[in-house]
Amino acid sequence: MNGRLGASVKERGANADIQGMKAYAARLACLLILVGFPISVWAQDSDEAGSRTKILALEHAWNQAETFNDLKALDSIQHGTLRYSYRGISMLKNPFEIALYQVLFWQVKPRTVIEIGSYLGASAIWFADMMRNCDVNGTVISIDIKVPTPAEQRENVRFLEGDANALDTVLTPAILATLERPLVVIEDSTHTAETTLAVLKFFAPILRSGEYIVIEDGVVSDLGRAHRFNGGPGLAISQFLSAHPEFEIDAGFCDRYGHNFTGNPNGYLRRS
Ligand SMILES: C[S@@+](CC[C@H](N)C(=O)[O-])C[C@H]1O[C@@H](n2cnc3c(N)ncnc32)[C@H](O)[C@@H]1O
Repeated sequence: MNGRLGASVKERGANADIQGMKAYAARLACLLILVGFPISVWAQDSDEAGSRTKILALEHAWNQAETFNDLKALDSIQHGTLRYSYRGISMLKNPFEIALYQVLFWQVKPRTVIEIGSYLGASAIWFADMMRNCDVNGTVISIDIKVPTPAEQRENVRFLEGDANALDTVLTPAILATLERPLVVIEDSTHTAETTLAVLKFFAPILRSGEYIVIEDGVVSDLGRAHRFNGGPGLAISQFLSAHPEFEIDAGFCDRYGHNFTGNPNGYLRRS
């Protein structure tokens, strides 16, 4: 009995220990829940707060960019554009055009792209690569008063020497007759109203229904610099459209990110 009692006491003692441990564990669990839950909520909140802070910081930067003259959003985008590159070669394209050309190429699937204003040749190479990405077997003809010699070469890119103001001397009727269609033209040379208008007039009778001419850098007006370009591309586009109702501004491109939120405001012209 004693033994039993002893055993029983031992058992009770053991039971008490177990009960005590259980109670301790339960208290600990409660404590962890009570303390842990707020901690996890706090951690979650602080993560969200971090994200919110980041977003607010971005909004703040964007708002600042819109508020202060020396930090205009457009100036900031333009600054980045001038420092952009494709395959290590400087390419003067802003982020909106980098997005929009891809959509345009997929939509039109041009077999020929004529670019006026090659600069270092990166944009011509990029156009050629984009054609290939769109499963198009086509050619890029890039014309400049100074022909570039980019380190990158593409079999389907031809750089030709020529003046945007006298395109008939380089794009002869014989050459034009050989161009595969559809055609997309990109004017990106002097950005003066005169040159832009000369290019528009040259291509007006050449372009067919559904083909495009893109006039680059009308954004100089928004940047307050149109006077440096004798009115710039914007003036040329409005003069051209008033005499050529067969061309229309494609808002699907110009307004995709907001009204004329592009480096080429009113610059995506489609022959109807
Ligand atoms: C804005 S850059 C072209 C940028 C290039 N398309 C790009 O996206 O990187 C302008 C180019 O036009 C060329 N240019 C200037 N006057 C020209 C003219 N009258 N005819 C043809 N090209 C001209 C310049 O030599 C320069 O390379």
